Amino acid sequence: MSKIKIGVLISGGGTNLQSIIDQIHKSNENGEIVLIASNKKNAYGLTRGKENEIKTIYLNPKEYEDSDAYNEALLAHMLIEKVDLVILAGYLKILNHKWIGQYPNRIINIHPSLIPKFCGKGYYGLKVHQAAIETGESETGATVHLVDEGTDTGPILIQEKLNILKNETAEDLQKRVLEIEHRILVEAVRYYCKHETFENLRG
Ligand code: GRF
Repeated sequence: MSKIKIGVLISGGGTNLQSIIDQIHKSNENGEIVLIASNKKNAYGLTRGKENEIKTIYLNPKEYEDSDAYNEALLAHMLIEKVDLVILAGYLKILNHKWIGQYPNRIINIHPSLIPKFCGKGYYGLKVHQAAIETGESETGATVHLVDEGTDTGPILIQEKLNILKNETAEDLQKRVLEIEHRILVEAVRYYCKHETFENLRG
């Protein structure tokens, strides 16, 4: 059986990408990363890809007329590599309708909160955790969800919670949530590689 071809979009450090490399790509699993694409030239995730001999590309958004033109160029690279499953692993741009049409229910995103809390425009990085602390939440967590045309609005696949500790800083909370992210993202990808669908995941 041929392996599920995975494309990963990143904008930053790529610790979530690393967990997919280690636990899916390099393990004896039915999935391989065939392309890592970034909108940021210096994203460390690109280095992680190169170190593992995975094809990487950087596309500069400024070189495209608009966001649709950028999305189309990026999508073309996925199609050339015959990607089956797309993972947004810390990718800070929005995919357009062409992506959703090309990959219905086959694009997932990892977000560091319990969606619908602290998600959508402006909620990224430490800001998500600062908001959870400042609003006095007792718990937070991470969410893997299917991607639609909105920002963090698609159907939820997996969510895992943790308790926010007294006097915990946003930085400390981010580290603990990242551990959850790595675990549930791998779980979702592993499920897809086995079943070729996300239907009934944890169902
Ligand atoms: C993670 O918190 C992810 O949930 C969010 O961006 C961050 C990316 O971290 N979308 P990394 O690049 O995977 O380390």
